[in-house]
Amino acid sequence: MKISLKPAVLACAMFSVLPALGSAAGEAPAASPEIQARVAAAKTVTQDFLKTLGGTMMKEMKAGGPGAAMNVCRKVAPEIANDISLQKGWKVTRVGTRVRNPMLGTPDAWEQDVLNRFAERAKQGEALKTMAYYEVVEEPNGKYLRFMKAIGVAPKCLACHGDKSQLPEVVRTKLDLLYPHDQATGYKPGDLRGAVSIKQPLDM
Ligand code: HEC
Repeated sequence: MKISLKPAVLACAMFSVLPALGSAAGEAPAASPEIQARVAAAKTVTQDFLKTLGGTMMKEMKAGGPGAAMNVCRKVAPEIANDISLQKGWKVTRVGTRVRNPMLGTPDAWEQDVLNRFAERAKQGEALKTMAYYEVVEEPNGKYLRFMKAIGVAPKCLACHGDKSQLPEVVRTKLDLLYPHDQATGYKPGDLRGAVSIKQPLDM
């Protein structure tokens, strides 16, 4: 079932994570201070999430190789996302442009739309590193602030997301076993891999 999302006129703006909020050219009306604070919080949480994930991944790769490190993307990433979700009362997930775990990683209609726009923005030359988007959306049961931050493919991701023929044997075997519907291979460095997606309920 498709839920139709009506963007509120209130605050619908594109922005980059690093420059001051709302500084991009040709933007919708400035967001309220509450929205700006919420976007800033989402941004901080996302950066911490990605940093922790990247650090843990590197450590596991060094210690146990790609077979062991698979658990970081498989267990640690959803665990951190769940912890933040519980702590903040938000929904925090990772979604993919091509998905490995269809249960956790499949974008909903809004997320798919934003991923398409991220791909378009990347084609225009914008860096994935700072690419993000937020919007206040109205759903049948209330308003939400939705936020997404692009995730790019780095060389270190290729052991598990690169060309299938190039994957280490241990990774290929595990993928076949654990992810029979895996689509998340064939990426190159600099590709859009997906996004961190955050949904905060608003009481207004
Ligand atoms: C050691 C193997 C491994 C490496 C290295 C790895 N991943 Fe993954 N990745 C996985 C596995 C396994 C999953 C499925 C996780 C799950 O079950 O939710 C996954 C899932 C994801 C997802 C969630 C969407 C989906 O397809 O299910 C994203 C986004 C992602 N990886 C990005 C990255 C990025 C970016 C890098 C490099 C910084 C990276 N991964 C490196 C194994 C890996």
